[in-house]
Formats: sequence, structure tokens, C-alpha cells
Amino acid sequence: MPEIALHLLDLVQNSIRAGAKTVRIVIDLSAQLLLTLTLMDDGCGMDEEMAALAHSPFGTSRTTRKVGLGIPLTRESALATGGSFSLTSEPGIGTTVTASFDTRHIDCPPLGKLEDTLVSLILANPDQPEFEISLSSKDANEVLDTRQIKQTLGTVPITTPDVALWLTACLRDMTENTLGGITS
Ligand SMILES: Nc1ncnc2c1ncn2[C@@H]1O[C@H](COP(=O)(O)OP(=O)(O)OP(=O)(O)O)[C@@H](O)[C@H]1O
Ligand SMILES: [Mg+2]
Repeated sequence: MPEIALHLLDLVQNSIRAGAKTVRIVIDLSAQLLLTLTLMDDGCGMDEEMAALAHSPFGTSRTTRKVGLGIPLTRESALATGGSFSLTSEPGIGTTVTASFDTRHIDCPPLGKLEDTLVSLILANPDQPEFEISLSSKDANEVLDTRQIKQTLGTVPITTPDVALWLTACLRDMTENTLGGITS
């Protein structure tokens, strides 16, 4: 069963391939039993036809293979829990994907290593996109913005090992404070 963090990785990779300058990731557990993952990008977007096709395993703009699984697998995974999935996109503006998971459902995937996934994405893309990450539950809201972090760091690259360690610890705390109530 794919983990929610892996679905997120798939979706963010789509945004990166779409040339996004900013990727906003919102993971919200405020309804306590419903985990909602929202990803917004300002990449190239899709026309209506491509957006509809993207839901199918055979909908891909890749030229090296004929299947594209990121979106259909995330959708299947969310719907299997009785949750929901939506994708809206506008060419030249960007794309928003929302998947919600009923965390009580037996088929709900584990959260996975969210902090490691996010740190890998940030470090593998040190220049662009910028990431705005918001994790929230009923009682807590935690945000991390790579644009702000880079401003504070000045000339120190975000990929510096000490910074990477700090980022991992920071995202681990953020995850624990907000989503700690669900199993990973
Ligand atoms: N955020 C996005 N912005 C623009 N186009 C997108 C975005 N997400 C998906 N697409 C389009 O939808 C297609 C299907 O996406 P999906 O993630 O399902 O498969 P894939 O990325 O092609 O392949 P895979 O995820 O299996 O590596 C992509 O090839 C791309 O053309
Ligand atoms: Mg993909």
C-alpha cells in the first residue's frame, strides 16, 4: 500500500515537471478523522482534455512511457478510504490537487516518512520551486516557507549539511505537533 508521503512525492514531482516556481502543500487534520492533502502549483497547468486524461493510468505527457500513475494512484488511494479527490487546472496559471483520506478506514495508507520526503524535495530542488508547507490539526498550525529560510540564510546554501539536519528536525517537530495523532 503506497504511503501518503509517497503520493505527495508523486504530486510534487508533477509540479516540478510543470515548471512551478512555488509549490504550496497543505496537510490538514483539523477534522480529526479526515486528513486532507492539498497541493497548489503555479506550473504550466493543463487544458480540460489533459486534466480529464490525467485521471487515467494512460493519461501522460511523458514520451518515454505510456502510463502515468501518480494521479490515478493517489485518487484510488483516497477514494478507497471513502475520501475524495479533485484536480483543477488552468493552462498558464497552475494546478490544484486535493485528496482526502478517512484515517479510520482500514484501507487508509500510513502517513509514511513525511519529513524525509519533504526534506528530499527541498534539497533536490535548491533553487526552484519554493515550498510553502502548512501542517495543521485542530489545535496546532505549523508553517515552513523555503523562501523565508533562504532569506535568513543569506549566502549559506540550503543544502549545507547542518541546514539539512535542522530542516529535518524542524519538519519532524512540525509533523509530530500536528499529525502525530495518526499512525505513520
Ligand atoms: N501539476 C501538474 N501540472 C501540469 N500538468 C500535470 C500536473 N500533474 C499532472 N500533470 C499532467 O498529467 C499527466 C499525468 O500525471 P501522473 O502523475 O498521473 O503521471 P505521470 O507524471 O505522467 O507519470 P508518473 O507519475 O507515473 O511518473 C502528466 O504526464 C502531466 O502531463
Ligand atoms: Mg506523475
